[in-house]
Amino acid sequence: MAKKRLIRLSCSFLLISFFLFCAVRFYYYLTDDFRLSNIRDQRLTSYKQISFPQENLLLARQILKQPFTYLGKGAQSYVFVSQDGNYVLKFFKFKHLRPAWWLKVLPPFSIFQSIKERSQSKKERKLHDLFSGYELAFSRNCKNSALLFLHLSSTSFLHQSIALTDKIGKKHLVHADQEIFLLQKKGTTLRDRLSQTLDLGQLHLTKQAIASVLAMYVAEYQMGIYDRDHGVLDNIGFIEESPFHLDTGKLTEDESLKEKTIYQQDLQIVIWQIEQWIQKNYPIYFDQIDPFLALQYQQLTGEVWQSSLVNAEVIKNWRHRR
Ligand SMILES: Nc1ncnc2c1ncn2[C@@H]1O[C@H](COP(=O)(O)OP(=O)(O)OP(=O)(O)O)[C@@H](O)[C@H]1O
Ligand SMILES: [Mg+2]
Repeated sequence: MAKKRLIRLSCSFLLISFFLFCAVRFYYYLTDDFRLSNIRDQRLTSYKQISFPQENLLLARQILKQPFTYLGKGAQSYVFVSQDGNYVLKFFKFKHLRPAWWLKVLPPFSIFQSIKERSQSKKERKLHDLFSGYELAFSRNCKNSALLFLHLSSTSFLHQSIALTDKIGKKHLVHADQEIFLLQKKGTTLRDRLSQTLDLGQLHLTKQAIASVLAMYVAEYQMGIYDRDHGVLDNIGFIEESPFHLDTGKLTEDESLKEKTIYQQDLQIVIWQIEQWIQKNYPIYFDQIDPFLALQYQQLTGEVWQSSLVNAEVIKNWRHRR
């Protein structure tokens, strides 16, 4: 009898857990968990505000008068598009940049204390790196990042509201001065650009797009700048024919990248990502694009291309260079 009850209880528990899990997944699917509390952070009221040319400020004021609609998300931000379709407004996902809630409820024993401190400093480093990436992009690589305005602390000079419509169509009105956000020109991701040209069999345009992305990378290496995020297909975009970093959260300054022997290792990862994507998604064009990639690599580095040089370990090491 007791055994039967135990089985029934376990089944009920499993069923309830399963429904809860499904409900949470469904909520995430519907909303991407966009909530105002997730884009706000107490720590940031004192973060320094970057100074801007007056024209950027005027442009930002003008753009922010438009309503914005949810466009998508990445691991670190929520992205909205302006009504005229020319600009994106990004809010940072602070929910990923603060220590997990359950750390707060751990009892004050020394073993837990060190876990809390480690998590705290890891998150602070992540936040610092993210903001530094955008600041670096704005100050040294503005053209290649299409950034128009960074608002990384609360201010008192914007005096306007921003109208947002989230993923489920819910409207929010927020005060620009109090939110942390950035404005950037809207582009097309490299993934979409390559799909568009390859779907139409436009190999010359595909090659042109790839060549311009690789040239941008090499020009940045020569400035001692590189992107630790190698998700090239989604983090690189195009505005008309010009490539740009639509995600500069991991842009990093490193003088050693000016050395060809160093930058060629980063370039290998970039080319490898494109090569893998073509092979998987457009295998019929692989035999034509792959020799082009090899030729580009040779022209940019003087070395022979071998995709076998790149593996998960190599990518991981690059990501953790700093
Ligand atoms: N300027 C832009 N133009 C068009 N689409 C954009 C732009 N910026 C972002 N997006 C879209 O939103 C997605 C997420 O943006 P972004 O990569 O900046 O966020 P993230 O959270 O930093 O991403 P990650 O997951 O790579 O850390 C992009 O992959 C892209 O699809
Ligand atoms: Mg991204």
